[in-house]
Amino acid sequence: MESDARSVILVGFMGAGKSTVGRLLARRLGLCFVETDAMITAREEKSIPEIFAERGEAHFRLLEAEVLDLLAEKRGHVIATGGGFPCHPGVMERLKALGTVVWLAADFDALYERANRVGGRPMLAERTREEMAALYEARQAHYHRAHLSIDSTQLSVDAVVNHILRHLRDRERGGLVARGSAASPNP
Ligand code: S3P
Repeated sequence: MESDARSVILVGFMGAGKSTVGRLLARRLGLCFVETDAMITAREEKSIPEIFAERGEAHFRLLEAEVLDLLAEKRGHVIATGGGFPCHPGVMERLKALGTVVWLAADFDALYERANRVGGRPMLAERTREEMAALYEARQAHYHRAHLSIDSTQLSVDAVVNHILRHLRDRERGGLVARGSAASPNP
């Protein structure tokens, strides 16, 4: 990690493994871990499905915007964001100002299958597979603006974390070349 306590921010579609990877990455880096969804549920004292059911998606996005303001205080954290968090105007720039933004990418089929294994995802519950595929496509351009992308389709959590750690070390040394075919720095 850089000495000015910059954060590592994980972005990606539902099912990308942001929470699992983030927790392990934080442990390996000796940093605190935080999830934007958990910040929202703690502030609202409601689950994500309750917030969607009672106030709708638009309200949830406003809560995400409030949490974005609070992230500036979270220096030197590993931050796992909700799947839609970076997909709004100006958000990715603000995340990139906080530290290294890593996109955990994967094939849609793999993500859809993983996301369906765990409940509590109202975006998934309200949409057909085709609609989810369209949402996935629409979000790619946002995720693509991360500093680094890792295709985790075929990788274990350990392997993903190791790729991120190598990339962070490379960035610290001033080099932007990530080793390994699964990880690539974005332009
Ligand atoms: C959402 C993803 C969820 C959560 C909310 C909305 C989305 O987070 O923020 O249900 O719009 O993709 P995960 O990506 O952790 O599932």
